[in-house]
This record gives sequence, structure tokens and C-alpha cells, in this order.
Amino acid sequence: MKIYKEKDYEALSQKAASIIASQVILKPECVLGLATGSSPVGTYRQLVEWYKKGILDFSQVTSVNLDEYKGLPKENDQSYYYFMHDHLFDHVNIKASYLPDGTKEDSDSECTRYEEQIRSLGGVDLQLLGLGHNGHIGFNEPADIFPDITHCVDLQESTIQANKRFFDSIDDVPRQAYTMGIGTIMRAKKILLVVNGEGKADTVRNAFFGPVTPQVPASILQFHPDVTLVADEAALSKCPL
Ligand code: F6R
Repeated sequence: MKIYKEKDYEALSQKAASIIASQVILKPECVLGLATGSSPVGTYRQLVEWYKKGILDFSQVTSVNLDEYKGLPKENDQSYYYFMHDHLFDHVNIKASYLPDGTKEDSDSECTRYEEQIRSLGGVDLQLLGLGHNGHIGFNEPADIFPDITHCVDLQESTIQANKRFFDSIDDVPRQAYTMGIGTIMRAKKILLVVNGEGKADTVRNAFFGPVTPQVPASILQFHPDVTLVADEAALSKCPL
């Protein structure tokens, strides 16, 4: 694994954006796997800025997102569809972008359709990830197994608590989500993980310097051949580096 230790959030966002930019420049028709949450916001801001300056062109790029809340329509400002449009898609010339459809009631058919969508695009060239406090990637929560393909999950209490800050009340936080599986993520050719803040220092150490276990879903990334971790000093402060 390649680890970039950056001074702060601004610096790690710049680094992560430059890695994504390199992917887009080297393979303009690439498939980017994208994430929501607070970690990649600065990365998207930088990509938008480079696009506006004419440095980057997304006209041949397709994207697939990691996950979506089940039950939230696109126009809900907490849906991941809304987030992605707000932070990136509405500001760049991306060719096509896909997310699981949270309004689809039939979980099995929606998850099968989404997995097939990713496959039909030829898989993901570069998958951007954030890291949950409990070690989740996408919405693959700590469990007894590593789920393979896109599936419907019951969100853990800790995840509901972590995400309630975005909703009016905790009762509004959806209890389920559609997420790429660990297998879907692991089949990406390259993985780029962005992590910041002291609050995640224990999780980073457990995920990358501890045993590989489905109780820490991100730990599986130790087995991926091309992972880049871009983190700030605080997030890496408990790692034996
Ligand atoms: C987002 C996602 C989640 C987040 C993780 C970290 O699409 O799948 O795994 O990446 O929960 O969230 P933040 O960045 O808000 O700390």
C-alpha cells in the first residue's frame, strides 16, 4: 500500500484530487467509483476547480457510486444522488453517472441490476473510498463475512449516530442502504482511500496494521494489489510508520 501523509485536510484533498486527475488524463474514458460523506468534499472541490480552469475534462468519464440510502428519492437533499450532483456532477462535464436507486423497493432486483451495470461498464478503474469510524467501506458494516456483491444492508446504530448530523432528527436517518459489496470494491483496479482527523486514528491503525477481519471491513484492502491511502497527520498518528 502507498501511504501519503499530508499536513491537513486541504493538503490531502489536493493529493487525492491529483491522483484522480492523473487517472482521468491517462485514461480519459475511465470508470471512476465515487464516494459521498465529508472526507471527499475537498477532493471534489479541487476537481471542479481544475475543470473550470480547463485543466481537466470529464467528457468521456463514467462514474458509479458506492452506495445510496434505501427509501430516499433523488430530490431529498440527504440522498447520495443529491450530494453527488451538488458537489461534483452539476459542475463538471461528466459523460454519465450511476448510483443505486434508493426508491426501488425490491432490494434483490435493484442490487442485481446495479452490480450488472458496473460489470457492463467493464468494472471500476479507480475507486475512491472514505473510512467509517467502525471500519466500514461503502456501507459494508462490521460482520462475520465479507459480502461480495451489491446488497441491501441494515445500518448499524453507530453509523446511524454518525450520520444523524445531516438530518433534522435521528428518526429521519434511513435504516437501510444499498451498497457495493466488498467484492465489488476489491474488483476495482485501483483504490484511493481518503481519511482525515484524529477521530479515525484508531480505525486506520486497526484497518491497515491489524488482522484482516470482516469485523473491520476496510482491513480487506490489505489484500488489494493497488491501494493508495491519503491521510492527514492526525489520522495516521497511531500508525507504526
Ligand atoms: C460514503 C460511504 C461511507 C463513507 C464513510 C466515511 O459513500 O460509503 O463509507 O465513506 O462513512 O464518511 P465520512 O467521510 O463522512 O467520515
